[in-house]
Amino acid sequence: MELALYAPGLGYYAGGAAKFGAAGDFITAPEMTPLFGRTLARSAEAVLQATGGDILELGAGSGRLALDLLRELESQQALPAQYRILEVSPDLQARQRALIEVETPHLLDRVVWLERLPERFIGLILANEVLDAMPVHLVHWLGGEMFERGVIVKQGEFVWQDRPLSAGPLWQTAKAIDPGADYLSEINLAASAWINSLAQCLERGAILCLDYGFPRGEYYHPQRNTGTLRVHYRHHSLDDPFYLPGLCDLTAHVDFSALADAAAESRLELLGYTSQANFLLNAGLLDLMAEMTPTSSDYLRAASVVQKLLQPSEMGELFKAIAFGRGLNGSVPGFERGDRRGAL
Ligand SMILES: C[S@@+](CC[C@H](N)C(=O)[O-])C[C@H]1O[C@@H](n2cnc3c(N)ncnc32)[C@H](O)[C@@H]1O
Repeated sequence: MELALYAPGLGYYAGGAAKFGAAGDFITAPEMTPLFGRTLARSAEAVLQATGGDILELGAGSGRLALDLLRELESQQALPAQYRILEVSPDLQARQRALIEVETPHLLDRVVWLERLPERFIGLILANEVLDAMPVHLVHWLGGEMFERGVIVKQGEFVWQDRPLSAGPLWQTAKAIDPGADYLSEINLAASAWINSLAQCLERGAILCLDYGFPRGEYYHPQRNTGTLRVHYRHHSLDDPFYLPGLCDLTAHVDFSALADAAAESRLELLGYTSQANFLLNAGLLDLMAEMTPTSSDYLRAASVVQKLLQPSEMGELFKAIAFGRGLNGSVPGFERGDRRGAL
């Protein structure tokens, strides 16, 4: 999965595929409407005010969210001194820079692209749909034993092969989950390591992640016995990860309980966990809609997208928002009503 997504020049994110939007393979919330970024700006503004810090966005995709956040914060006279981006894909880094350069050239000098995490950071760390793009391990629980499922080449084709799981972090995590019966699913050790490294650099502020997934009990539910690994190609969702490797997006849902556990181990405080719909409503999405002229075509377009973001059958319920903090004097707007921390 790591090679298919990130091998230099060949991986899906490392290569030049369109990826986002109508011409690409999938569409993310920031690509659907600027209202998403403008709503997140309300949470960002509160953290910036409380800390006097900067924003650090991880995996900024096309740069759309950065652009909408910068514009909204500028209109509220709340711009951070720096908007830092850490993006693993050189192709996307170039697209992000080009977008900011064209749309808001006067803000370009505030945007800084990093090669690695800073040693210390104060402010808001933000990641939208980044965790689902991290390579996962596939684990097969069978007849009381545990196997790691890997990929081999047989007669020129990729095929699966299981091998007994040996002692180590994956074994330990798989043992603790043990869903019983014949069960195949994913474990995302990279996500836990990632939150640990963010915790190490966060001196004061918050980490806000939005993504699709569930708490552990739902993730490893008996009925979800073939896991959540999916392929996105030209707006179709497929379940064969060997289909056009390097040309398709591969994703797995996020186990938010595992993320919360790793964050707690790194002494981060769990500030909030709720559905995307609750988060956006709490953070003021509808107030922004109310500022628009209700008869304009922009309003009608926005209303239909907002419905997608909020509806339980679309992105409102499957997508979640989770926030962690350290030394934050205040809260992160978005988690006031509909708190679900108890489900983790
Ligand atoms: C599904 S895209 C989401 C892009 C964007 N955040 C959005 O919402 O449109 C996943 C992004 O995460 C980046 N990415 C994946 N793993 C990362 C990591 N460990 N650190 C930083 N970026 C990462 C990918 O290159 C890509 O930009």
